Amino acid sequence: MVDAQITTDDIPDLIERAEEHYRRSRLTESAADYDTVLALDPDNLDALEWRGEIAVQLDDYETAADRLGAARRIRGDDAFGEYTNLGLALYELNRADEAVDALWRAIQQDADDLVSHSNLGKALYDQHANGERETAIRIAAEWLSRFPDNPDAQHIGAAISGGTTPNVANSAYVADVFNDYAASFEEKLAELAYRAPVLIEALLTRHMIGAEGGLSILDAGCGTGLLGQCLRPIASRLEGVDLSPGMLKEAEAKSCYDTLAEAELVSFLCERPGRYDLIAAADVLCYFGALEDAAAAFYTALKPTGTLAFSVEATETESYILNESGRYKHSAAYLRHVVEEAGFSILALDDDSLRTEYGVPVEGLILLAQRD
Ligand SMILES: C[S@@+](CC[C@H](N)C(=O)[O-])C[C@H]1O[C@@H](n2cnc3c(N)ncnc32)[C@H](O)[C@@H]1O
Repeated sequence: MVDAQITTDDIPDLIERAEEHYRRSRLTESAADYDTVLALDPDNLDALEWRGEIAVQLDDYETAADRLGAARRIRGDDAFGEYTNLGLALYELNRADEAVDALWRAIQQDADDLVSHSNLGKALYDQHANGERETAIRIAAEWLSRFPDNPDAQHIGAAISGGTTPNVANSAYVADVFNDYAASFEEKLAELAYRAPVLIEALLTRHMIGAEGGLSILDAGCGTGLLGQCLRPIASRLEGVDLSPGMLKEAEAKSCYDTLAEAELVSFLCERPGRYDLIAAADVLCYFGALEDAAAAFYTALKPTGTLAFSVEATETESYILNESGRYKHSAAYLRHVVEEAGFSILALDDDSLRTEYGVPVEGLILLAQRD
């Protein structure tokens, strides 16, 4: 409720004060002043847009969608350039169709708005999963054809539209996804009952790998360090490598690695011939389609008779497929073929549920192999 003494004549002063609060990072105070302005003048565009911006920063997506949506209706579609935040808010509220619409407009207005490209990929995935498959496929195809150089369009656009599938997720896309995800990664994966690291650990134990400790180990695609924690007890030296600085920062805080490196996995491995007793990769090769280069690089970086352990998501199709989530799935026959061709003997190839997705178990394969 607005103080009876405050009138529309006070709006310029209120806006000035709100701006000053904002400049000094006093977001709550700034929001309160903009709310007062909007109580006096509900169509005040300045207040609507800034209140929406502040709401995004406070993770209050209901308010953000409401204020930014109102601003958009007043301005009309062509003139309004705040689709980035509106799209983000709608995506966070699981309003996938509206989010796709806003984010699509954002990238039309600014092709270099990389945040909106990235959020568009996520919103399209939700739209596809929520049943609006044909719309999602059509927009994804157009996204890819209009923005062929954008890493998100190249990967997730191709995955959803069923266009030409890249052989591997490009590094910029992967780093972007996981930087974004890093702070909430473990919480989200706990909700999804993620088990790949403990399944790999159990397989190693069953085969007595590292029973006496003292191994030189690489956690390949270490992420936040969930697998590293499982491997530490059998390591004399534990290294981690990952593309995403955000994930590596979380891994660093676990204090279980001797070294952590920001690098692309295959290049990293090729520069370290004969270095490791064990290389383990939990939920990493689902960002690789074709596995030939990775298998050859694992072979190079392992010592003779060294051990390789990894998980992938399973498919019954011939070799591998890229699904709408942007992750690849692999068949057991393809894994056997690639790993054996690279010079390994397979010790085990288990199937088990790796986690859930939309409440449904995601079936996986966990492979253990020994280098010749
Ligand atoms: C789903 S997370 C799994 C992280 C960790 N292994 C775990 O089980 O919690 C996948 C990780 O693989 C990393 N990754 C994917 N492709 C990579 C590549 N080509 N080189 C290095 N890291 C990669 C990602 O950055 C991400 O941190």
